[in-house]
Amino acid sequence: MSEDAWKRRFDRERKVRKEAEMLLEAKALELFQANVKLKEEMEKRSEQERVLIQQSKMSAMGEMIGSIAHQWRQPLNVVSLLVADMLEAYEYGDLDEEYLKDVQRDIMENIKFMSDTIDDFRNFFQVSNQKILFSIKEVVDEVLRLYFHESKDLNIDIKMEKITLEELTILGLKNEFKQVVLNLLNNSKDILLERNVRDKWIFIEFSQNTDYINISFEDSGGGIPIEIIDKIFQPYFTTKHEDRGTGIGLYMSKTIIEDNMSGTISVSNTDIGAKFVISFPK
Ligand SMILES: Nc1ncnc2c1ncn2[C@@H]1O[C@H](COP(=O)(O)OP(=O)(O)OP(=O)(O)O)[C@@H](O)[C@H]1O
Ligand SMILES: [Mg+2]
Repeated sequence: MSEDAWKRRFDRERKVRKEAEMLLEAKALELFQANVKLKEEMEKRSEQERVLIQQSKMSAMGEMIGSIAHQWRQPLNVVSLLVADMLEAYEYGDLDEEYLKDVQRDIMENIKFMSDTIDDFRNFFQVSNQKILFSIKEVVDEVLRLYFHESKDLNIDIKMEKITLEELTILGLKNEFKQVVLNLLNNSKDILLERNVRDKWIFIEFSQNTDYINISFEDSGGGIPIEIIDKIFQPYFTTKHEDRGTGIGLYMSKTIIEDNMSGTISVSNTDIGAKFVISFPK
């Protein structure tokens, strides 16, 4: 080949290479931009999730204030009776040291109960991003103690397996898990009252095998209509009136269990009602 021919070939190849390089650069830029966009999308999504969790916390907080009021009614009554009684005792000349000591003890006990209630609720709402090892049964106990003491008045029987499974511990966000338990129990309570079921109960069961720890919530509320059962975990899906439900309870529960705690949550209908099962891999 002549020198000229070599040069032509060389130039041609250089041009091709240059074009390829430019194409590659353009593609790399495109990829980079797509990546930035994806990151932005992901940030936006997790921001939206934070907002949802926050909203749900706010509505739970409203319920919390109702529950505190309910828990305080009894001790407040007792304290005001004790104080009224004290004046009477004074008028009748019964107000000796022993009497005063008794009254003091009773009043202090009631105040302590009220102050403990506040502490319980405050702990309940402390946000923590730290994963800790906790007993799922203890969490359920706490939610029942704080929120469902009025279930007797509502005629709802909340049954829990009597077996001691305190050792069923999982690693995760304890307070978020409490919110999940609260959401499920509230949904059952709502449906039992809304449908005016005669025999109202919620049954909470724990189990485990070599790979999983499971907890299930079953109620006697008649179940979820088959047309909507696939939609109930979607954000903002609700069958409730707007001031009774926002439709984020189950969406948030699923996010917490599946994204934050690597578990699963599923639902099915039994003969008598709905049953939600949560499983955590061991
Ligand atoms: N135990 C249940 N039995 C029957 N239907 C249920 C049950 N739990 C949930 N549902 C249905 O699923 C829907 C979605 O529940 P979800 O908890 O996500 O929202 P919500 O309860 O309507 O509102 P909120 O955001 O206040 O929780 C409910 O509106 C209800 O129709
Ligand atoms: Mg709900």
